Amino acid sequence: MRRELLPEQSPALLRELHLLTREGNLNADALRKLKQVNHLVGLLRPAMDELQERHGAPVVVDAGSGNAYLGFILYEVFLKDAEAGTLLNIEGRPELTQRARERAERLGFSRMEFQTAHLEQAQWPERLHLLTALHACDTATDDALAVAIQKGADHVAVVPCCQAEVATQLKESRQGVDPTLVMLYQHPWHRREFGSHLTNVIRALTLEAFGYQVTVTELTGWEHSLKNELILGRRVHKENRPARAKLEALLGAFGVRPKLTRVLGVEPTPRTPPA
Ligand SMILES: C[S@@+](CC[C@H](N)C(=O)[O-])C[C@H]1O[C@@H](n2cnc3c(N)ncnc32)[C@H](O)[C@@H]1O
Repeated sequence: MRRELLPEQSPALLRELHLLTREGNLNADALRKLKQVNHLVGLLRPAMDELQERHGAPVVVDAGSGNAYLGFILYEVFLKDAEAGTLLNIEGRPELTQRARERAERLGFSRMEFQTAHLEQAQWPERLHLLTALHACDTATDDALAVAIQKGADHVAVVPCCQAEVATQLKESRQGVDPTLVMLYQHPWHRREFGSHLTNVIRALTLEAFGYQVTVTELTGWEHSLKNELILGRRVHKENRPARAKLEALLGAFGVRPKLTRVLGVEPTPRTPPA
């Protein structure tokens, strides 16, 4: 089991999170979860090192945090022994927030905070340095990204969940779309898959348009390959006009406008009516 752990990670935390059995073993589900979260934490190390060096007291927000496994592990690895820095978990289900808050108290993780709220109505900190959202359902990923972009978060890391919104928009806006493109999503199954792919392409391009350098990669090999896409963004400019133009053209070409672009006021390039 020790080889699954990050250098700063303790079996005691995993026991508290019920990822380790009393005998000190990891069952298959726990191992999968731990591998995912640890891999993400490893990928966030450069961002956290940079934030701790530059800001001293980084503010990390995990949106749609569920049981807050990611938050607990991030906190233990980067913040527990640091002098400052907070980690806010925002989660819609009160019973999950409550359980996680009690765990944090038992562990003495005093700069770990919890808020029960829908992401759209949450009290977000004025300044946030790193936004994470691991499998935040459907458009919750958009809610999280929109706030991160509006508040100029230095880094974002999202692993989107299933997405349904764009598949519906593709179905409703076929008229006026290039018929060759429509072939990509005529069948409902393809529409769902393509809608999900297009959503994530638009999320990445939106981050670029708002000045982020973006990397899209696989989180880790595991069971739900469709929920295994990691979008990492690092803010390097205030805006990127060529990326914005590409984004508007893409929205216009497919006749879609996912939530992230609506919230941020990105308009599609008008489609030219067929001759
Ligand atoms: C699939 S779970 C993932 C939980 C956690 N991030 C993890 O990876 O273990 C998605 C979580 O997001 C929460 N959630 C979904 N939509 C939300 C919203 N709009 N506002 C707040 N929480 C939301 C759900 O209650 C659920 O706990």
